[in-house]
Amino acid sequence: MDYNSILGDRIFYSTLWSFRPTCAISEVKKNLEKVKKAHPKGNKISNYGGWQSPCMSFADIEQYPAFKSLCDELTEFIEVMSENDGSPVVVNNIDFWANENKKHDYNKTHSHATADYIAVYYPKYPEGSGSLDILRTDAGRLLTQNWGHPYNSEISLEAEEGRMYVLSGHLMHFVHPHTSDEVRQSLAFNIHVKLPPQI
Ligand SMILES: [Fe+2]
Repeated sequence: MDYNSILGDRIFYSTLWSFRPTCAISEVKKNLEKVKKAHPKGNKISNYGGWQSPCMSFADIEQYPAFKSLCDELTEFIEVMSENDGSPVVVNNIDFWANENKKHDYNKTHSHATADYIAVYYPKYPEGSGSLDILRTDAGRLLTQNWGHPYNSEISLEAEEGRMYVLSGHLMHFVHPHTSDEVRQSLAFNIHVKLPPQI
């Protein structure tokens, strides 16, 4: 073996990163209650049952300081992680919305269209919360010999209340039916990035 001849790369790379924002969960819950009060009917998109807020923009959330804080930390996190990963980007825009699932509510399989990264944060995640499953979206999904392998076809996220999860935007996903009598609350983010300015 000629070790000097070895080359390696990751192609068609997908990310699953996470961190704990410093913003207090109680403040996020207050903002969520405020937006729920302002939009009691909500939207119907991927959710079956449950409540989903209208989409909010990072540029227009002064009345929701905890949401703004989450977006600020998310921006910093993605810029640091992408630089560490060797592909630095600058966050250009973040759109986000809030969700609340009651018992038996779920979210159908979907993707977030053109978002470069997607993120999810759980202000409330009781035991029995419907888990988020992330699907491999290339032909690897057709293979049967990769069970238990790191390149498996489906990952069930072991989510933690108060943690922010960041995924590559191309990943399809769905949410299992919620089984708890307590509601499950989440915030979902679409993150659009651009290349950093050339110096
Ligand atoms: Fe989603």
